Amino acid sequence: MKKTGQYVTSSVAGEIVKAFVPANLPPTINSKTLEAISVLLKSAETSLEKLNIAGEMIPSVNWFIYAFVRKEALLSSEIEGTQATLVDVFSHERLHQVETSSIDDVVEVTNYVRAINYAFDELNKPRGLPLSMRLLNQCHRRLMQGVRGATKQPGQIRKSQNWIGGTRPGNARFVPPPHTELTNLLGSLEKYWHQNDALHPMLRIAACHVQFETIHPYLDGNGRIGRMLITLLLAHWELLRSPLLYLSHYFKAHQSEYYTCLEKVRTEGDWSGWFSFFLEGVADVASNAAKTATFLHKQVNHDRQVLHYQNNVTVPAIQLFEKLPENPVVSMQMVTQLLETTKPTATKAIQILQQCGILKQIGDKNRNRVFQYQNYIRILG
Ligand SMILES: Nc1ncnc2c1ncn2[C@@H]1O[C@H](COP(=O)(O)OP(=O)(O)O)[C@@H](O)[C@H]1O
Ligand SMILES: [Mg+2]
Repeated sequence: MKKTGQYVTSSVAGEIVKAFVPANLPPTINSKTLEAISVLLKSAETSLEKLNIAGEMIPSVNWFIYAFVRKEALLSSEIEGTQATLVDVFSHERLHQVETSSIDDVVEVTNYVRAINYAFDELNKPRGLPLSMRLLNQCHRRLMQGVRGATKQPGQIRKSQNWIGGTRPGNARFVPPPHTELTNLLGSLEKYWHQNDALHPMLRIAACHVQFETIHPYLDGNGRIGRMLITLLLAHWELLRSPLLYLSHYFKAHQSEYYTCLEKVRTEGDWSGWFSFFLEGVADVASNAAKTATFLHKQVNHDRQVLHYQNNVTVPAIQLFEKLPENPVVSMQMVTQLLETTKPTATKAIQILQQCGILKQIGDKNRNRVFQYQNYIRILG
């Protein structure tokens, strides 16, 4: 067995356990492993390039980023057992109301959106924070805001021993490093983000994710921040020109394999298995994302045409339509604000879009009715 770290004894609640301290990155990868994954690496690269091109062909890539980030937030939070719907996420953000989900679930998802948007803003700002633990801590603070996260030390590296799986450290599936090791481990990981390594950046990202999960620096939210880190590193190492690739759906669909692969890096030094799993995910998700982007683009073009051929079409209806991709759920009141118009004009615009089959009313409320751009949301769902 290859050595990937060392076990140290740690005491928690009067119990002595063996905690794992991983070796710092870069990982030692032999040529046999590189050879074994070379085909997968090539195909992941090709799919990523397709996604880059799809992102550039689309006139308003911001729409897609808007939608993709929310979908990712939803799925990444779902691994945790949060069950909000995409419509409720849109609805909560813009209308401060939800239809079917629990409000705590939706808050958790919108917190994720805020955290990831915050990170990208900082990284793109001239004097913003660089990719660092400070940045991730700030993301964590945003992620953990609200009732559920309040006891999870938002924005702070843990100050106690944690464990994964099991009811106590003694019967845990895995005991991450003692908290006293975190400064060293995280400092080294952070350094790795800014140092050169001959390893392909995609493999570096895979290595960073497993390292982050093994360190498990927070009391909660390690999965979500670790998946966010993948997205941030894709931008940081310039593999992706717009933030359109998110792996949560893939990790969720293959959850037990995902956990086993993470584990085998630690227990067997099996980088090859983890890299393969990760690269297959990138290839799969990137080609699907490119398709989704194309479908969304086609749908919007199609609906625009339908609208323009509608004989009673009005300028406000067209203006409203153009705002839908970034506001796929709207209320009457919101439409009057978006169009800076009167209630009768807004009502008329909504009616026209309903006649074209573009907007559909959600629920059967009569006061402050809510509508969704259903074809668009269906493609995302
Ligand atoms: N055996 C394991 N070894 C290392 N990491 C693991 C293992 N099992 C699960 N994980 C990671 O831990 C995450 C769950 O940790 P947690 O702090 O609860 O994050 P979150 O609240 O964001 O889901 C999983 O999503 C996964 O990324
Ligand atoms: Mg959790």
